Amino acid sequence: MSQLFSPLTLRGIQFNNRIVVSPMCQYASVDGFASDWHLVHLGSRAVGGAGLIIAEAAAISPEGRITPHDLGLWSDEHIPGLKRITNFLKANGSVPGIQLAHAGRKASHNRPWEGGKAIFPNEAEGWQTVAPSALSFAEGGPVPTALDDEGLHKIRYDFREAAERALEAGFRVVEIHAAHGYLLHQFLSPISNQRTDQYGGSFENRVRFLREIIDDVRAIWPTDFPLFVRISATDWTEGGWTPNDSVALSALLKEQGVDLIDCSSGGNVPHATIPVGPGYQVPFAEQIKREAGIPTGAVGLITSAEQAEEIIASGQADLVLLARESLRDPYFPLHAAHTLGDDRPWPVQYERAKPRG
Ligand SMILES: Cc1cc2nc3c(=O)[nH]c(=O)nc-3n(C[C@H](O)[C@H](O)[C@H](O)COP(=O)(O)O)c2cc1C
Repeated sequence: MSQLFSPLTLRGIQFNNRIVVSPMCQYASVDGFASDWHLVHLGSRAVGGAGLIIAEAAAISPEGRITPHDLGLWSDEHIPGLKRITNFLKANGSVPGIQLAHAGRKASHNRPWEGGKAIFPNEAEGWQTVAPSALSFAEGGPVPTALDDEGLHKIRYDFREAAERALEAGFRVVEIHAAHGYLLHQFLSPISNQRTDQYGGSFENRVRFLREIIDDVRAIWPTDFPLFVRISATDWTEGGWTPNDSVALSALLKEQGVDLIDCSSGGNVPHATIPVGPGYQVPFAEQIKREAGIPTGAVGLITSAEQAEEIIASGQADLVLLARESLRDPYFPLHAAHTLGDDRPWPVQYERAKPRG
């Protein structure tokens, strides 16, 4: 039997297979609301057979959005639209998950297809961003305000409230976004965090804010439901966050009740040199799994059934997350099962199209 199609149970939740739809911003929301686009986008991938579908980075507050069009979870009014989606995913065999995010100094941008440029606070639709330190992401870019104690408390509160809403909306996995140069990654990395208080300086201080948020969220997230954290395992930059830092952090998060580390990389420095290639981030998932003893997810240029099977079968990771390949082929899991000779049922409505033999 294919290992890719073996079930996995984390806490009380069973995933039918190891294929995960990686969180992908759709920038298709008005005021943070899920739209029909989200239902069809995520719903298609449930029809396609993914074990777990992680809905895109949902902003915990309006100022935490990357763009004015991000999905959000800062209001109870956001719940019903998401509930409709989670009901559909569950009815079609996928576990619904959602990523909770704050973009920090990388907030207030326009959409990728509009150029993906920073919108300065004095420009239409822009706002003042916040971060651990008043350091812009890119040279000449907007300078964030360094968060004070009140600001930090508000963000902790917002993460917890957003997690409660995610639960109410029917999600079974919550993933905290601490990767790609967004707010929590900004705290982890000495490049973006130059604070002199208890949240900056030493490793222990830089990981403190993320760890506080994990404690807050774990306290309200049911013990039967898994909690994931996405990290950038390296900044790919001298003087930045390193794979060994990631191992040390993952071991701490494991003690706090985190169930899986989703291992991405980069995003905190505009001009890092990244050796992008097939499965280029898989070694981080492998290292963290081995050295911190916690389940991991591998992501990044995983594009074929055989490659995904090999990652799981060789024990490099417990889950594979697919982003762009899942956009190219929403039915990737159904096709992968056929490629690997694993006879999976297709949705009954599509049964007549299932390849035979
Ligand atoms: C359209 C798009 C939107 C994305 N949005 C998110 C996001 O909301 N959160 C996140 O952690 N990563 C996001 N990513 C990164 C992906 O989840 C993934 O880590 C990355 O694309 C590498 O995987 P791939 O090679 O399978 O595409 C996005 C990627 C794409 C292509």
